[in-house]
Amino acid sequence: MARVQISGTGLFTPKESISNEELVSSFNKFVDEYNESNKESIQKGEISALEKSNADFIEKASGVKSRYVQDKSGILDTSFMRPKLRERSENELSNLAEIGSIAGQDAISNAKIDPNNIDAVIVACSNLERPYPAIAIEIQNELGIKGFAYDMNVACSSATFGIQNIYDMIKSGSIRSAIMINPEMCSGHLNFKDRDCHFIFGDVATAVVLEELKEEQVSDNCYEVLGTKLLTEFSNNIRNNYGFLNNSSPEGIGKADKLFHQNGRKVFKEVVPKVASLIKDHLESHSIDINNIKGMYLHQANESMNKLISKYLLGFEADQSLAPIVLDEYANTSSAGSIIAFHKNNENLSKNDLAIICSFGAGYSIGNVIVKKIA
Ligand code: COA
Repeated sequence: MARVQISGTGLFTPKESISNEELVSSFNKFVDEYNESNKESIQKGEISALEKSNADFIEKASGVKSRYVQDKSGILDTSFMRPKLRERSENELSNLAEIGSIAGQDAISNAKIDPNNIDAVIVACSNLERPYPAIAIEIQNELGIKGFAYDMNVACSSATFGIQNIYDMIKSGSIRSAIMINPEMCSGHLNFKDRDCHFIFGDVATAVVLEELKEEQVSDNCYEVLGTKLLTEFSNNIRNNYGFLNNSSPEGIGKADKLFHQNGRKVFKEVVPKVASLIKDHLESHSIDINNIKGMYLHQANESMNKLISKYLLGFEADQSLAPIVLDEYANTSSAGSIIAFHKNNENLSKNDLAIICSFGAGYSIGNVIVKKIA
């Protein structure tokens, strides 16, 4: 069986960002407008008044301070409250292919690989812009990559599941290398009118180049993939019912369940022990002591959640150098979160250090990747 390395990662960060204060100010203006225009129904008890949001609550409950977005003005406009994106013609790059290609190009440069030597492209993300042709094939075309490409979706765990796909293909010898791309335009599935979740997500794209590991060809900042472990377990606590069959049930079109919605408290309680137990089992199966892990690049949904996972595993809360947090700046970027944390912080690792990249979320789905810095 071939050995596998991560030879480069890439990141695209949108130019615009929204602070909690800006987001809450727009949300609260929307609440005032809604309550005023529905005054009579609210007074008659026919509908409830909406409650205001609070920037301090958001930071305390989640750790999020700001988020990057592809269109700030549409989101903050109380008459629109979603990113305003120009409809693109079929001759133009799609939104996801555009940001995914930039992240992909960054990963290709960092891996110092010729696109001609990449055998496959996998786009792994939570929300695909259209059913076909695959966004991955569009990016393959844009980056001049031969071979094959396809899209896959495992919600917040898409990146680790994508890495396992590529890892298995390289190990078996069906390909020698591939690039995985995670274009996450989470502002598009976020309900900016919902106080419980309007603050959660941001936009970003990440990319990872994986190649067959040949000792004589290892360049700087490369990581051997020692193993992957995946788990899914059905839960209704995180859902998005948007899909192609909505058109056949017109009574549901435009309803709030066609966007992201969750029972955040239940997710927190149920997912933390499952993640800790999967990481523990995975490390034990490789005879690795958790105390020898020098980098824990965890999914970026909630800061307290990550601290609790590290406490379950280590007996203490990991600090920023061991389990870096990027959600304060990026918010939850779904599958891209753990890859951003890895991309921005792996220079802290030394040769032979062991680390994990772990994601978790809707499904439920959990994926863990053990890596070792080899150069
Ligand atoms: N501003 C002010 N108060 C708010 C608020 C807001 N925007 N949103 C909710 N509240 C209030 C609630 O009404 C509730 O009030 P009550 O106690 O009077 O009933 C209180 O704050 C607590 O609400 P709750 O929803 O229980 O908050 P929480 O502490 O669970 O934090 C999350 C919410 C979403 C930040 C947190 O549950 C979380 O991050 N969970 C993990 C989610 C996750 O990982 N999802 C994966 C997604 S991919």
